[in-house]
Amino acid sequence: MNVDGWKQFAAEAAAGLVRDEMLVGLGSGTTVAHVIRALSRLGSGATFVPSSSTSQRLASKLGLRLESLSAHKKLDLMLDGADEVDPNFNLIKGRGGAHTREKIVASASRRVVIVVDRTKLVRRLGEQMPVPVEVLPFAREYTIARLEKLGGKPKLRQTSAGTPFVTDNGNYIVDIEFGSIQRPTKLEREINRIPGVIENGLFVGVADAVLVGHEDGCAKLRSKRDFLKFMRA
Ligand code: A5P
Repeated sequence: MNVDGWKQFAAEAAAGLVRDEMLVGLGSGTTVAHVIRALSRLGSGATFVPSSSTSQRLASKLGLRLESLSAHKKLDLMLDGADEVDPNFNLIKGRGGAHTREKIVASASRRVVIVVDRTKLVRRLGEQMPVPVEVLPFAREYTIARLEKLGGKPKLRQTSAGTPFVTDNGNYIVDIEFGSIQRPTKLEREINRIPGVIENGLFVGVADAVLVGHEDGCAKLRSKRDFLKFMRA
């Protein structure tokens, strides 16, 4: 079985958490796409709030009932993927460039469950992935120069055609390599204080639980203890 199969194990467990009466936020990415397919297979009667145009298109094609966030103040649950998860359930997100809307939908949700395969678990954030930062195109050069002063290596994300990657919000993404991040709470705040930054992909204190797909199924992590035990096994 390959990593995609591990994602499917976690996605099926995530879909099993959804009840018909719920209002559920949907993140983005390949793992969430598996969640959407699993929900459709189950014939879920819940209502969903997608956080990206890609998730919206897939969920709509597969017949899930969709509403926008503007119609609701509170959601019951958010199901989303992540690029890295640390033992405190802090996250790096945004490989798909959708982290701004994902952070908003997560913050409107009573419970946030992160759905990943085991390759996403890290001791410290930044070990494997850069931190994506959504920036206003107007302020690109200035914002990148300010981001550089935080100690990382910022790089404007580009498409395969060599043009800047543009988010659902019409902005650019700057990926910053920091290496191992010692203080994610401080860094999340510092990045967002820079004019021109819309939102960054550090999600600190957002996730309530993590579903981890692996060779033999899916582990449900509810605490740091569960995380460390899983890493040791
Ligand atoms: C989208 O911008 C991201 O936050 C995704 O949730 C994250 O990149 C995980 O994606 P995969 O499930 O495709 O790895």
